[in-house]
Amino acid sequence: MGVLADLRPPDRPMTVLLEREEPIAVIRLNRPEALNALSNQLMSELVGALENLDDDEAVRCIVLAGDDKAFASGADIGDLSNPTHLELYFGGRIDKWDAIRSVRTPIVAAVSGYCLGGGCELAMACDLIVASETAQFGQPETNLGVLPGAGGTQRLTRAIGKSKAMDVILTGRFLSAREAEAAGLVARVVAAEAWLDEAKRVAQAIAAKSPIGVRLAKESVNQAFETNLRAGLEAERKAFHLALSSEDAQEGMKAFLEKRKPEIKGK
Ligand code: HXC
Repeated sequence: MGVLADLRPPDRPMTVLLEREEPIAVIRLNRPEALNALSNQLMSELVGALENLDDDEAVRCIVLAGDDKAFASGADIGDLSNPTHLELYFGGRIDKWDAIRSVRTPIVAAVSGYCLGGGCELAMACDLIVASETAQFGQPETNLGVLPGAGGTQRLTRAIGKSKAMDVILTGRFLSAREAEAAGLVARVVAAEAWLDEAKRVAQAIAAKSPIGVRLAKESVNQAFETNLRAGLEAERKAFHLALSSEDAQEGMKAFLEKRKPEIKGK
């Protein structure tokens, strides 16, 4: 089972909660006493939940949320404080982040309150971020004598550019939701009471489309960060042809011409 093993001792509560509202599902991080710090248990349960949902055809889009106060305050500093190099390397930590990156179902991060360190990296590993106006984004690892270790130096820099990323990472300052939106980190900012509903609305809009087109589009956009322009355009063209040959694409275009709603089958 590797990283998917349920590492939770029998007396410990679940650190992620799953709400199914098909065709979407909502995963809630559930360690409010630690501002949803990403403990080893939480990361294992999160990856398990994501992989199960990714295999479930009834779920077309996933919302990943914390609570009003925090999306996640980062890696659990208690877990991080004394590991040996070997534990870090072989402890499955990296595999969990790779597993999140491999999820093909679109994931909307719904962020309210603190979104820091590994929490900000987790939000950035999702496909887009919907934020409450209360959200605060930061990579304060340099305050602890370390640096972002799950993609922060790479994803934040690609999202907001070198100068702002250096400002955030080297000084440890937080970006407000509005600043994060203006810089390109966040897709939408909404009023404090609306963050989760708005994220669900976005997820419903995605889930209403063909999962074939949507998944291939996600894969293709991600190629923009993995490769050069020529190879990215080639990957997009192949994905486009693949989507075009699906029943959903034929139905989508036929329905447009017949001025009716398409019947999406996921085929
Ligand atoms: C463990 C944490 C935690 C964390 C908060 N808590 N963040 N526990 N790991 N990352 C716990 C606190 O110890 C406290 O527990 C409770 O949550 C509430 O936190 P307070 O500090 O009392 O709240 P507040 O004063 O409102 O301050 C909020 C905060 C602060 C600004 C978010 O908690 C903070 O600075 N947290 C650390 C943020 C951080 O440095 N993140 C990066 C981590 S390193 P008690 O028991 O006292 O009530 C990282 C590396 C990623 O993420 C590498 C890849 C995995």
